[in-house]
Amino acid sequence: MCGIVGYIGSGDIKSRLIEGLRELEYRGYDSAGIAIMQNGKIESFKAVGKLCNLEEKIKNFTARSHGMGIGHTRWATHGKPTELNAHPHMSENSYVVHNGIIENYREIKRMLQENGINFLSQTDTEVIVHLFETEIKRHKELFDAFKATIERLDGAYAVLLITKKAPDTIFFARKGSPMILGRNGKGEIFFASSDAPLIGEAEEVAYIEDGTIGYVTKKTIFSQPDNLLFVPLSGDKLTAQKSGYRFFMEKEIYEQYDVMSDTMIGRVLDNDIAFEELDETFMEGVSNIKICACGTSYHAALTSGYLFERIAKIGVNIEIASEFRYKKPLLSPDTLFIVISQSGETADTLEALKMAKKAGLKTLAVCNVDNSSIVRLADATILTRAGIEKGVASTKAFATQVMVLWMLSLYFAKSRKSVDEVSIRDEIRYMGYVPKVLQKSLEVHEKCKRLSKRYLHGHGFFFIGRDIFYPLALEGALKLKEISYLHAEGYPAGEMKHGPIALADAELFTIALMPKTLLYDKIKSNVEELSARDSTILSISPQMFDLADDFILTHPHKHPMLEFFEMMVVVQLLAMEIAVRLGNDVDMPRNLAKSVTVE
Ligand code: AGP
Repeated sequence: MCGIVGYIGSGDIKSRLIEGLRELEYRGYDSAGIAIMQNGKIESFKAVGKLCNLEEKIKNFTARSHGMGIGHTRWATHGKPTELNAHPHMSENSYVVHNGIIENYREIKRMLQENGINFLSQTDTEVIVHLFETEIKRHKELFDAFKATIERLDGAYAVLLITKKAPDTIFFARKGSPMILGRNGKGEIFFASSDAPLIGEAEEVAYIEDGTIGYVTKKTIFSQPDNLLFVPLSGDKLTAQKSGYRFFMEKEIYEQYDVMSDTMIGRVLDNDIAFEELDETFMEGVSNIKICACGTSYHAALTSGYLFERIAKIGVNIEIASEFRYKKPLLSPDTLFIVISQSGETADTLEALKMAKKAGLKTLAVCNVDNSSIVRLADATILTRAGIEKGVASTKAFATQVMVLWMLSLYFAKSRKSVDEVSIRDEIRYMGYVPKVLQKSLEVHEKCKRLSKRYLHGHGFFFIGRDIFYPLALEGALKLKEISYLHAEGYPAGEMKHGPIALADAELFTIALMPKTLLYDKIKSNVEELSARDSTILSISPQMFDLADDFILTHPHKHPMLEFFEMMVVVQLLAMEIAVRLGNDVDMPRNLAKSVTVE
């Protein structure tokens, strides 16, 4: 994903920008560029590929002390990864870097072209800088021109802009894409897309809020609204990387809001789903799908099974990779073989992929780590763009896997013509609400914290759900057992009466996922059966349920996937708070590793 850095100060501007971009490399990129302003002149350099290519280009350029610059790593969305499409983009006087997508760029571009402006790139970003030049002519103050520019943009953006007309100023704006402002006692000012480049450089940082616009000079920091709240940034990488959260897991649960927009950018369009990673013929000759994965990734796979069959109307078979490997599976060439993995290094999943390749199947990886073994081996890859996940208990990786798979089900539906356009549009509209559903809810977190004290004993937990909420129940149970070391099982709610209900008593905790949009009455009956046997019930639902002992109220939504994502956050927080009360190491639970590279 694109990364942004900015710098004002008397340090070595060139290396400040390059080192900052290097810290953002993990986000994935295919080109990079910088623009440096010194003595009223701007020099810009760009290169395709890795940062070392850009370094090679600038090796003979010496930046004088005092000045400022902006830098960018680009992950192509509009237009191929070429030098012309790389940022910064320029106009007569100004340069811009941008992370996000300008949804209405076509109409702005058309308007600007009609006024005689030439475009050099195929990007959406270039409109920003030309629009700014146009607005300069209409406004006395440069900030007003910048503001007028930003007000014209629809979509998501983190923007930094510099102009020869104000050689000491960096203009900034944020909506939907992350951006942080940092400063230190040496008078240095930094911008970055995540805190990684700021650690050890900035002493305090302000996490710029959505909808904020402003400018920074060596002496002034101005924002509208006036909401920049600077907090100390630890120089210790580990503490600083937690951005004020107690654990990486907590940080990663809350990051789901931001990373989800990254996952969707360039893929969920106005009325369409697009995957640049797949060519149009990708589904040719495919009549069914097989998915292999482990652990949490397997739960994402199970969720997608419902979506693929329901939306894309294609048969799906899902297997745990370690089982698949030794069953001597029958593989037929009309099967699309999908592997799902956060790390891209899981030995069982990798081996399953090798088997599928050997059998001549078309293969697709859904993965979070570019250049991992699985990515290198698969015929095609869709990156989930969750950013580095440090907590051993996977959270944001799961969320983004499910999102990619939901988008894929729609993409396949489109190519198989299995749903009409109105339904596709409807589904896309609901996808747009997902980041909002994942937004921080202090109330829900507080409730989980309070409830956690009642769930520290007992002889076991059953997480129950139906349909897509069954894999979510499995995932909730896995989260809890991984970090609390309490016994927890996920079960399809309708299966309880076929055996497990024998365990029901007051010491059996049932966490019931009770969405309103999907089979509510059915799961309600299943929960009633458990309540009649005195099981202690925690209901997670938008509807109050009088037989529940405890209740976490979710918001009413119109689509099951929105309920899914909201309940996902609840089960993650609940597991974490129970583990915290038990005094466990949430980020590094016993016996577990982040990347399981052994059988
Ligand atoms: C999830 O919380 C786990 N730590 C684990 O189940 C994990 O999902 C599994 O090992 C698969 O890993 P992968 O996604 O990297 O392939």
